[in-house]
Amino acid sequence: MGWEGVAEAYRRSFATLCAGTVETLLEATGPSPDHLDIGCGTGDLAVTAARRGRRVTAVDPDPDMVTLARGAAARAGVEVEVRESGLPGLSLTPSSAGAVTANFVLNHVPDPRAAMRALARIAAPSARLAMTIWPAAPGPHLAAYGDAARAAGARPVTSTRLAPELDFERAPEGLASLAGEAGLRVMRAEELHWTWRISVEGLLAGIRGGVAGPGRIHQAQTAKVRSEIEELAQALWAPYESAPGLLAFPITAVLVVADRP
Ligand SMILES: C[S@@+](CC[C@H](N)C(=O)[O-])C[C@H]1O[C@@H](n2cnc3c(N)ncnc32)[C@H](O)[C@@H]1O
Repeated sequence: MGWEGVAEAYRRSFATLCAGTVETLLEATGPSPDHLDIGCGTGDLAVTAARRGRRVTAVDPDPDMVTLARGAAARAGVEVEVRESGLPGLSLTPSSAGAVTANFVLNHVPDPRAAMRALARIAAPSARLAMTIWPAAPGPHLAAYGDAARAAGARPVTSTRLAPELDFERAPEGLASLAGEAGLRVMRAEELHWTWRISVEGLLAGIRGGVAGPGRIHQAQTAKVRSEIEELAQALWAPYESAPGLLAFPITAVLVVADRP
């Protein structure tokens, strides 16, 4: 939902945030020689897995993400088969993947239960699956943007919240229940914490480029309101400045690791 035309802005900004979990997901999926990365975005996790010697297939429904992921693999000199495909209708052989990752993807699909069932179907028996989402409370980079937008009187945009019957609790327990309902055996359900370092310009590039909630809000405003929000947001980000023009945000994500019995 909402990833059309934002791939390059995502690469410059929030891709570096999502990359914070790559090591954890690779370690959590065990020693499988083959790896399927769902919703691969610009390809950070897929390329890292390939560099570690895994045979990697990566899928993403957005054609620009597919192009960027292919480019990242080519530049890294590794082979990754990148296909244009998405949950829940993956065009892949059922029960075929020895390790499956979905890094910040299940929080972007219109039917998370159907998506989780598709992940379970594609996993081979005993395969490990590692999935992340964002928790319900927004990180400080987003909270500050929201406060800035409200203070600037930003025009509201249509909510992307799912209907209650489709939604799930954005917490370790909620993601774990989803995995359990899909027939997976949950091995870990926890929060991850790290520091995200990004330049002010990089973060603004993502927001101006329309990435995620702040990006959608930003693009719906007049130039005057956009510039007011940017000024206010930068003031609210200032306590996180670690060096001139560089921000360091404490980040929390939700991780579930499961296997297919
Ligand atoms: C926040 S990005 C995460 C990208 C990548 N996993 C990473 O860690 O950088 C979400 C990604 O999910 C993809 N996506 C959106 N809907 C999807 C679906 N139904 N199935 C698979 N991927 C989807 C988007 O195109 C986007 O690349």
